[in-house]
Parts: sequence; structure tokens; C-alpha cells
Amino acid sequence: MHPQALPGFRDFYPDEFALRAHIFQAWRQVATRYGFEEYDGPPLEPLELYTAKSGDEIVGQLYNFIDKGERHVALRPEMTPTLARMVAARANGLKKPIRWFSIPQLFRYERQQKGRLKEHFQLNCDLIGEPGPLADAEIIALAIDVMQALGLDSTDFRVRVSDRRILEGLMQSLRADEGDRAKLYRALDIVRKAPGQAAALFAEAVPRGSLVGTAADAFQRLTTPRPFSTEELREFLARFGIPEVASSDFFRVVSALSELQLSSFVEIDLTIVRGLAYYTGTVFELFDAKGELRAICGGGRYDNLVGALGGVDLPCVGFGMGDVVLGELLKDKGLVPTHRSTIDVFIAGIEGGDVPHILRLAHELRDAGLRVEYALAPQALGKQLRLADTRNARAAVVAGSEERARGEVMLKDLVAKTQRPVSMGDLIPTLHAMIGR
Ligand code: HAM
Repeated sequence: MHPQALPGFRDFYPDEFALRAHIFQAWRQVATRYGFEEYDGPPLEPLELYTAKSGDEIVGQLYNFIDKGERHVALRPEMTPTLARMVAARANGLKKPIRWFSIPQLFRYERQQKGRLKEHFQLNCDLIGEPGPLADAEIIALAIDVMQALGLDSTDFRVRVSDRRILEGLMQSLRADEGDRAKLYRALDIVRKAPGQAAALFAEAVPRGSLVGTAADAFQRLTTPRPFSTEELREFLARFGIPEVASSDFFRVVSALSELQLSSFVEIDLTIVRGLAYYTGTVFELFDAKGELRAICGGGRYDNLVGALGGVDLPCVGFGMGDVVLGELLKDKGLVPTHRSTIDVFIAGIEGGDVPHILRLAHELRDAGLRVEYALAPQALGKQLRLADTRNARAAVVAGSEERARGEVMLKDLVAKTQRPVSMGDLIPTLHAMIGR
């Protein structure tokens, strides 16, 4: 038997774990900088949590089964329904606006391809209880600042923003019915990846005589040229009779991002639709600037989900940022910090009788906050010092019986390649001074 990880699942050897830890650290740092508090929920949820509101695409990718108690359950494919359920259960007791973040591992039975696996980690940041556009801008700014904290700038990535209310306004003015709308949204969603397929869907969706020309015009304007300037967007809204109210929040989101000095990252792109069913307003996605990779992050406003899951109506806006494409982009840009297994001190002995002293000393040094290792089986001094080198130890302490008799140890500076005796009483402060902490 040669058991291997399942396709689409990752082993994190220490080198790979170091990149994951680096990403998580930036995620936590920036989310807390924006006043967000961390939460979590269960990785296994009732199946109906997703079948009710997430939309067909994600439901088709569920890892679901019937458990031993005959319950229909699913591994979480996204965090938003769990969050909405948790908030709905305590809606009245929570101080609004709620600013919460989480870093769940998620599971989707997707075909494995570059940037898409069957499990991934996702930073989720959600702002709940604030309907105004400054909340949307805050959430988008947070996503941009996470990317900047990882060393990426406006030459590396873009946020493409759109608004479901504007697209709904357009659908109304085209008099598209439910079925047409679904097809038109889908056509917009895939137009970048598969323009031919999008055109075919579009042709299917607009059979109604007098509106065909108008719809074709709208579709063409939406998809070329991109991105829209705010002036072009105003002209577009007027041309297709989309009411002011559908777009006023969107213009404020865009202007707030500019006031936050972030406009170099932002593009208006009305082909951003988002596959999930629950979005109601602003929607956005983050992509690498060259457009070579899958989406790094996606989110938007979803004002009806908490109410639909049994809570009071609470407006929400948030995003999910995955670790997979982000890791690829960091690698492409040379922004992955080199990982080195490192300790501060290696304690070596000369003979078997040194072991009890080494153990006691190791414990004292670890209590003092130092990273310490020693040989776990008898070894010649040379071999112990080679192990110290492999671990990139800053110092080695040789605790032989002769030094002990004088109340000392031999301290080796493994960088300067020097050594000197140090009294036991001075060892901890000397090591702290050497290591610089
Ligand atoms: P989503 O667009 O489905 O949104 O996922 C967000 C991000 O998660 C994607 O942009 C991508 O980076 C990553 N991702 C998704 N699926 C995979 C996969 N199979 N493999 C690797 N990475 C993946 C949501 O999940 C929403 N619930 C986000 C949200 C939070 N909206 C509001 N609040």
C-alpha cells in the first residue's frame, strides 16, 4: 500500500507551511488593523444551509453525505452561510456594525486545475448591520490592504467592481424575464474566459423582437471596452434608462475608494456578476494585473441572507480571499520569504554523564524564551555541532564536566566562529544579547 493525499488536497511540509503561515499572518494583521474580531464555526454543517441560498454552482460541488444519525450533512464549501446562521441566532445581542473575520478551510468538489483545488483556506471579512456604501468601500479597502501587506502593488493586481442593482436595472429596461436574466448573467460571467460560449448564450437569451438590437448594444458596451470610467458609466445608465437609485451607492463606493487613495487599484467592470446567488448590491473580484490567474478574492453586499436564515433583516457586505491563487502570485513575484529551520542555541555534551546537566540547562534556557535543541542520543561532539549547523543555530553551548567544575560553559558563536567560557550566571543575558531579543 502506498497511501497518498487525495487529488486536490495538500500536504503542508514545513516549507509550504511557512508560506501558509506568512499569508495567515498578513490576513490576521490587516483584519485586526481594521477592527475585525476573529470567529469560527463548525467545518461540517446541515446540507440545507447551502441548498437553500448558495446557488447551483456551489451546491453541485458539495462534499455531502448522510451521517450515522441519518442527518444530511456537508463539509463547508464557503463560510458565508455559517456566518449568517451564527449572526441570525444572536442578532439582537450583537453590537452593530459587526466586524468579524475568519480563516476557515473549505471543501469544494471542483475539477482540479491551476488555482483551484478541492480544499483551500479563505480569509473571510464581513461587515454586518451597515447598509451604507462606506461599508462596501471599507471591505474593498481591507482586501486591497491585505494584498499590499504581502508586498503586492497596483502593478500586480486589480479590483474589478460592479453592482447587481445596476445589472438588475439593465435587465428590467431590456424586459428580460427570470430565465433570460440567468442566461444573460451567465454570459457576462464567462465572457472573458469563453467569449464564443458567452455569445451563444446571449443569442439564446434574447429572442424578443424589438429588444434584440438594444440588448446587443448593451451587451457589447458592457463587455468592450473595459474598464468603464465613471463618465462612461453615467452615459451607459442614461442610454439604457437605468434609474439613478440603482447606481447612487455604487458611485459613492467608487468615490470613497478614491478618497481612501486606492483608485489605482480599482476598475469599474460590469461583467463582474459573481456566481453566488445571495448578492444584492456591490460585487467585486480581485485578479492579478496580467489576467493570467483565477480570481484571488470575491465578495459583495448580501442584504437578505441573515433574514432568510431566520434572523432579523441585517445588511451585510464581505469577501472571501483564497490562499491558493494568492500563493501562486506571491511565488511569481518572488515575494515568498525564504524558510529556514532555525534555533537559537544547541547544547552539546562531551560524555554520557553530561546528559542530566544538558537537560536541566535546556529547560532553563527554554523557560527564558530561547529556542533550544540538543542531541537525543549519544553522539560525538563533532556530529552534535554539525547538527547545530543544520538547524542554523546562532550559538552552541558545550556543557562538559571540566567547564562545569569551574561553574562555566563554553559558548560558541557559530556566526563569528569564536568561542569563550561564560559563567553559568551570565549565560542567559549573554545569549539574549547575542541573539538580539
Ligand atoms: P467565492 O468567490 O466562491 O466566494 O470564493 C472566494 C475566493 O476563494 C475565490 O476568489 C478563490 O480565491 C478562492 N476559492 C474558491 N474556490 C476555490 C477552490 N476550489 N480552490 C482554491 N481557491 C478557491 C465565496 O466563497 C463567498 N462566500 C465570499 C464572501 C464572503 N462573500 C461575502 N462574504
